[in-house]
Amino acid sequence: MSYKVGYFVGSLSSTSINRVLSEALIRVAPDDLEFTELPIGDLPLYSPDHDSDYPAEARALKAAIESSDAVLFVTPEYNRSIPGALKNAIDWASRPWGKNSFDHLPAAVIGASIGVIGTAVAQQSLRAVLAFCNARQMTAPEAYIHFTKEVFQEDGTITKQDTEEFLRAYMNEFREHIARVLTVLPRR
Ligand code: FNR
Repeated sequence: MSYKVGYFVGSLSSTSINRVLSEALIRVAPDDLEFTELPIGDLPLYSPDHDSDYPAEARALKAAIESSDAVLFVTPEYNRSIPGALKNAIDWASRPWGKNSFDHLPAAVIGASIGVIGTAVAQQSLRAVLAFCNARQMTAPEAYIHFTKEVFQEDGTITKQDTEEFLRAYMNEFREHIARVLTVLPRR
């Protein structure tokens, strides 16, 4: 049994440290997790005016989430909160009313920052949003990553053994979380 994981990178930066973190996470993840990025960069800004006729990018996002067994959020912290581009993507996926793509979906949250707080405040904000969206979040372990180029190479290689072990354990727990949630709430 393998699980399809759609992942969000909450940054639009061409040099995103969170994209590097996402690559590191994929490297250490269990073999039975298959990863597909859920792109957010081409979405227009959400408005309820679109609810009767979603644009192609938003339809594609909802379809990709709904064909996933779980979603992983790898995000920076912007001004102690969620980056606008990521919040916009979540708003698209949560609508139109009654067609929330996150309903009962297993989810996990992680992020990297150059400061030692490691996106902790953004993650709390994101968790509140995902709770309202009725996603089934992994609540432990938490992971607040202080990013340095010495520890994370551009291709996602992790050079510090305890960091690698921590992230491997995080992804193993995510796999177990997905399996537990899907036992009770199988995907349609
Ligand atoms: C930041 N940064 C930042 N860092 C942090 O720890 N807490 C914060 O609230 C913020 N706020 C913030 C706002 C904005 C608009 C920017 C551009 C940056 C710094 C941030 O951690 C750093 O730029 C990371 O490199 C962002 O992640 P990505 O885009 O490289 O993945």
